[in-house]
Amino acid sequence: MKFGTPLSKTATKVMLLGSGELGKEVIIALQRFGVEVIAVDRYENAPGHQVAHRSFVIDMANPQALRELIEKEQPHIIVPEIEAIATDTLVEIEEQGLATVIPTARAAQLTMNREGIRVLASEQLKLPTSKYAFANSKEELQAAINNGIGYPCFIKPVMSSSGKGQSLVYNSEELTRAWDYAMQGGRVNRGKVIVEEKIVFDYEITLLTVRSNNSKGEIVTHFCDPVGHIQEKGDYIESWQPQAMSEQALSKAQNIAEIITGNLGGRGIFGVELFIKGDDVWFSEVSPRPHDTGMVTMITQQLSEFELHARAILGLPVSVSMKSPGASAVIYGGIDEEAISYEGVDDALGDPQCDVRLFGKPVSFERRRMGVALAYSDTVDDARHRAKLAASKIKTLRDQV
Ligand SMILES: Nc1ncnc2c1ncn2[C@@H]1O[C@H](COP(=O)(O)OP(=O)(O)O)[C@@H](O)[C@H]1O
Ligand SMILES: [Mg+2]
Repeated sequence: MKFGTPLSKTATKVMLLGSGELGKEVIIALQRFGVEVIAVDRYENAPGHQVAHRSFVIDMANPQALRELIEKEQPHIIVPEIEAIATDTLVEIEEQGLATVIPTARAAQLTMNREGIRVLASEQLKLPTSKYAFANSKEELQAAINNGIGYPCFIKPVMSSSGKGQSLVYNSEELTRAWDYAMQGGRVNRGKVIVEEKIVFDYEITLLTVRSNNSKGEIVTHFCDPVGHIQEKGDYIESWQPQAMSEQALSKAQNIAEIITGNLGGRGIFGVELFIKGDDVWFSEVSPRPHDTGMVTMITQQLSEFELHARAILGLPVSVSMKSPGASAVIYGGIDEEAISYEGVDDALGDPQCDVRLFGKPVSFERRRMGVALAYSDTVDDARHRAKLAASKIKTLRDQV
């Protein structure tokens, strides 16, 4: 891999499709290698826009708009950070050899739709998953539940993320509301849902898995220590690393991660979501990009998941070793308001084992993730306590001009 000089004819150019808090950290990591970075998002002044060489606002789900921008900017590497992208365009771009798509255009295409990735994982790769079915109408949904999925079950739009449009249903009376909610919460109204048996797990993890070149240029798979997390309404509120696991469960988890990421191919980091009960492991889903729960690695690992992604993308070797156990706790907006202020960062950093990231999002919503508190400690329990305490000290305010 040869590196050029940014903003010159020799520049190594990377385009981020989606420039939220995760993209922002990937951009910072790329900048440190002297890469020229182009940040794209659907709204102005997104977190990643603020740290890139150039930024654009387009509808990334619009094939024409996406192609025009790629042709104009001619990036060497395209890095999807979100799911809602015109992935058919990425497939064409890759086929025409115009740019490398991370990890592959096919991975972006399969994972943007729950049906694509679930069918691949369960039916083709035979990985253990919850029982599931797809339904195009409320009647089909009821029939699928009656014919084996049973209650309680999760109902999710096939095209959605961060828990949007998702419900947990306990009986048939709740079905109409869950169906209507899924129809509103889906990214594009395809009128299709997945219904999944609820797995009663002891805990759930994200197994951050990196496919990167070794120094001989061969692709190798690395596993970070498992990240444990707590989700509320499909959104992560707390994560920690390492999650303690039995040897057998860890080896099953790594095996599943190796199979699914090996099939998706390419280079980069993947967040493999798994449910664990005793020594049993179920595959849930996978992000072919950094994972929100993996923000904890900014304080626990020698190289954060963002630095790992940047290195893997650029064909560089990686190390997944840890520095310390640690935890992250989400800082929510708390109010619906533009250009909010934050107080208490000084207080939070009064604990020398804590750190804080504020993402700089231009608009706050009550349940929008605006920042994250990080902590390290000798034990995960203590780190979780410190991270939650630090997050609670940060107050969001309006009218602070
Ligand atoms: N079949 C299931 N059994 C048990 N818990 C589930 C199931 N599906 C989802 N969940 C819970 O909901 C969370 C979000 O679901 P997920 O499918 O990962 O949606 P998203 O793509 O929005 O992240 C999971 O992390 C898990 O806590
Ligand atoms: Mg998920």
